[in-house]
Amino acid sequence: MIVRGAVLREMGLPAPYAESRPLHVEELELAPPGPGELLVRIRAAGLCHSDLSVIDGSRPRVMPMLLGHEATGSVVESNAPGFAVGDVVACAFVPACGGCGPCAEGRAALCEPGAAANAAGTLLSGNRRLSSTGPSDVHHHLGVSGFADHAVISAHSAVKIDPSLPPEIAALFGCAVMTGVGAVVNTAQVRAGRSAVVFGLGGVGLSALLGAVLVGAHPIVAVDVVPSKLALAQELGATAVVDARDADAIEQVRAATAGGADYAFETVGSAKVLEQAYAATRRGGTTVTVGLPHPSQTFSVPAVSLVAEERTVKGSYLGSSVPSRDIPRYVALYRAGRLPVDRLLTATVGLDDLNQAFDDLAAGASIRQVLLF
Ligand SMILES: NC(=O)c1ccc[n+]([C@@H]2O[C@H](COP(=O)([O-])OP(=O)(O)OC[C@H]3O[C@@H](n4cnc5c(N)ncnc54)[C@H](O)[C@@H]3O)[C@@H](O)[C@H]2O)c1
Ligand SMILES: [Zn+2]
Ligand SMILES: [Zn+2]
Repeated sequence: MIVRGAVLREMGLPAPYAESRPLHVEELELAPPGPGELLVRIRAAGLCHSDLSVIDGSRPRVMPMLLGHEATGSVVESNAPGFAVGDVVACAFVPACGGCGPCAEGRAALCEPGAAANAAGTLLSGNRRLSSTGPSDVHHHLGVSGFADHAVISAHSAVKIDPSLPPEIAALFGCAVMTGVGAVVNTAQVRAGRSAVVFGLGGVGLSALLGAVLVGAHPIVAVDVVPSKLALAQELGATAVVDARDADAIEQVRAATAGGADYAFETVGSAKVLEQAYAATRRGGTTVTVGLPHPSQTFSVPAVSLVAEERTVKGSYLGSSVPSRDIPRYVALYRAGRLPVDRLLTATVGLDDLNQAFDDLAAGASIRQVLLF
């Protein structure tokens, strides 16, 4: 079938994207789903910083690629057991094969065939279902490619969800919510009464903040460079906010947590901010890094502090989640009013607005913008 989608053909074009137009809206041929795959009519897809990082070249991917990895839609053709026409699914951005070593240990975020497929720009099967009329075939983004009216995805990338959720809310669960809440609940396993600080209040960081509120962390400090995001964080349950542009920002965090936080979450994508997050934790504290900096970035910490102060640094990918376990839980918590993820939604946009919308994301002017079909 012919689909319309937003294809990136070259990374690193200069901003503003409204002028350089890195995303081209094109018609592409989408092949039918193979064994274990689904044809999904995409209803909504969120704009995540990880899409922006492919556009600006800080997260290099094989080109050309149809972007978008935080999507929801309804199954229109199923070639996989357990999924029927009409099922509403959220897409997870790492397919979990279920059979590899990490999957067997419950660490679906580290699925090895899933990681290999994502790096190659294919579906879990190793196949590509997208082809363009141009000189080369188009790659899938993280097994999803949600910036198109339809997608073929592996059933291992799909989680059935409550069909009555508005699509612009449902989309958020596949990346921002699963990543941010999961960093708190799964990676750090924060307990009630422990202190937390979140650096970076985008879709992922605010989800981590909501996760910290959910589990009863206290106090909770929120750090960003955009005053409106600090204000929203306060409405969502941060007990203190700190402007990262202040020269004494880390001292302010340490003061607000009586000498340093038990848990610090870095959700900016900057090694420098990761060092600040580490510096903001207390003895025995845990720093969880979620942001995805350019592969060339490194960070340093005083090595002896890891030992003599029993500190921990942990990476968190996909919120250390098992998508089929966690997405339905987070949807139920949203329904119960315990996880108000609708507050992350800044605007809905159309396919032709994406370049401008990524300028807004890069400028820090939005939290989650969601492409609606
Ligand atoms: N680990 C994962 O599985 C995973 C999943 C999704 C996204 N990510 C990554 O997480 C990061 C955040 O994604 P997002 O979509 O929420 O991005 P975003 O752009 O919406 O949010 C980033 C926030 O950081 C703030 N910021 C910028 N500089 C700062 C500084 N010096 N100190 C404090 N705050 C600062 C920005 O104002 C913004 O609010 C990105 O690096 C993204 O690639 C990781
Ligand atoms: Zn994402
Ligand atoms: Zn696996």
